[in-house]
Amino acid sequence: MASKSISKEVDDLRAEINHHNYLYHSLDAPVITDAEFDKLFQRLKDLEARHPELVTPDSPTQRVGSAPLSAFDEVQHEQPMLSLDNAFNEDDLFDFERRIKTRLETAEPIEYTCEPKIDGVAVSLLYEQGRLVRGATRGDGTTGENITQNIRTIESVPLRLLGEGYPDRLEVRGEVYIARSVFRQINEEADSVGGKIFANPRNAAAGSLRQLDSKLTAKRKLTMFCYGVGVVDDGKLPDRQYEVLQQLQNWGFRINPDIEVVTGVERCVDYYRRMLGSRHELDYEVDGIVIKVDRLDFQRELGVLTRTPRWAVAYKFPAEQGVTILKDVEFQVGRTGAITPVARLEPVKVGGVTISNATLHNMDEVERLGVLIGDTVVIERAGDVIPKIVSVVTEKRSKQARKIELPARCPSCESEIVHTEGEVIARCSGGLVCPAQRKESIRHFASRSAMDVEGLGEKLVYQLVDQQLINNPADLYSLTEEQLSGLERMGAKSAENLTEALERSKETTLPKFIYALGISEVGETTARSLATYFGDFDSLRHADQDTLQKVPDVGPVVAEKIAVFFHQQDNQHVIDSLLQAGIRWPEETARTDHDVLAGQTWVLTGSLSSLTRDEAKAKLQLMGAKVAGSVSSKTTCVVAGDAAGSKLEKARELGVTLWGEDELLALFDEYGV
Ligand code: IVH
Repeated sequence: MASKSISKEVDDLRAEINHHNYLYHSLDAPVITDAEFDKLFQRLKDLEARHPELVTPDSPTQRVGSAPLSAFDEVQHEQPMLSLDNAFNEDDLFDFERRIKTRLETAEPIEYTCEPKIDGVAVSLLYEQGRLVRGATRGDGTTGENITQNIRTIESVPLRLLGEGYPDRLEVRGEVYIARSVFRQINEEADSVGGKIFANPRNAAAGSLRQLDSKLTAKRKLTMFCYGVGVVDDGKLPDRQYEVLQQLQNWGFRINPDIEVVTGVERCVDYYRRMLGSRHELDYEVDGIVIKVDRLDFQRELGVLTRTPRWAVAYKFPAEQGVTILKDVEFQVGRTGAITPVARLEPVKVGGVTISNATLHNMDEVERLGVLIGDTVVIERAGDVIPKIVSVVTEKRSKQARKIELPARCPSCESEIVHTEGEVIARCSGGLVCPAQRKESIRHFASRSAMDVEGLGEKLVYQLVDQQLINNPADLYSLTEEQLSGLERMGAKSAENLTEALERSKETTLPKFIYALGISEVGETTARSLATYFGDFDSLRHADQDTLQKVPDVGPVVAEKIAVFFHQQDNQHVIDSLLQAGIRWPEETARTDHDVLAGQTWVLTGSLSSLTRDEAKAKLQLMGAKVAGSVSSKTTCVVAGDAAGSKLEKARELGVTLWGEDELLALFDEYGV
């Protein structure tokens, strides 16, 4: 047992760390150095390691630590998360104000809070007695996803509220985003290891929030600006939007420093112009401004239309566009042979960045745009990196303009290109014969989310394939240091590092190995589902399409792709060689009887003590059950943990079978899940 003085030191350290965390992440005004902060943090970690009984879920050391989930639970928002009506020009804003004044029956000037509209992902944070108990996505506004584990990794989100006077239950809402600088770093890193490149910071934030493994989310350095509240039970908040935000800031939340209160819609227009002028200086994407009536009593009086409030409006910035000439179109070959037309443009500056390439996605898009080589085109930077062609200025078309034709043969291996009727994507039929496909599949195999071979980036893979040192991923494991040190820009030391990295990569997990194989349509999530379902690789590689379709998220198309992949002889050889090279992983949960609960619908409610609801849900799904968020007469069984509320009552009312945690555990035990 820890002594009283140790437990006090732990408490004090936590308070101190939370305070500095707040100064650093929420107020952007640190008062101690990183090294000093690290020292405090390390001291707390040491104490907690020695006295595990003192660890609490809201300790600053506990931001990451939960086991990966197999799926997210649904969350019903107690109050809908609304969206905003758009104003497209100043007239729309004047109309907005006129409607407000008419409804409020006033001629007095109206005060507005003007806020930057952050282009990120809307989330809801629920606090009970000052502790973060749930983080959820907006979803469709009524039902979102429970992403608590991932929200907890965001340092600007308090796990415990600071100060006092907060309501018993408080829901705070805001936008999670990735700073531009962090975004660039993530993409540069991904590019160097052949990982997934995000199109813009918003996609990167959304993708990071939807990671089932919160350790991955933590690496992405998400942050959040809060802009409002939802549920407020047993407590009072100030009666103006701006003051509510100040109050939230005092309780520990990060609030955008550029928010202002102005009087009259004309001043909102001034604010809009100022933000538009400075948007490129900000370290986050702003796609417009949000104007909100500041007085909350007015907001209540104005009320909401179906999905949008009458008291707020979004005034979007114009998209960042430029006009240039399409000089040529090249065709790139991806890992699975997909042929992508890429536009080569006359360089043009858009929003301060010079653009010389744009994606045309596929031939359907080329057709839809009706674009010809030599055309004058309008391009748009969607978010940040990958610009696209949005339209053609046909009036400027010259006589020399020529049609964009899908080549008959692959630019890399000259194999035939197949464009199946009804399919959007054209593909090179060369398979592993095609050097471009080989390069991309090896690059994918070695990438961070797959086998994670450190130091094996795109350029090196290309060199190895071009020099015919490797033909497939398995060949990587027979490369010698001598072969490697003979390569361009490769010394003896780097060659040694790479062979060591290859050796280390052999120790992997089953989902990563499945993902690394590069089966088309099998991303990280599907790979994980396959691993969980089959438990071992042999059962997966020999599964027929019917069995494959029983895996959550696997439909007929994906099942066929998987079965065909494992059927191909070349792939079988590569897989055998990989296994022979010594690739290994810890055993997954043993394969279980997937049909015992087939056709049944279960509901979990309340908190379970020996496993999380997500874990219980995954196990039930593994046994074939559907797990639902609400109780109806069709529910097979309701499992009620501690503090179960309305769902338990409903189950009683409807006479649905009720189980406790012990019975559920006994069931899992019996079937070895
Ligand atoms: S207020 C009823 N404030 O814009 C008010 N939204 O279309 C609803 N957003 O889903 C939201 N910055 O994701 C509000 N300062 C801000 C915002 C903001 C970004 C996003 C949010 C919402 C969407 C509304």
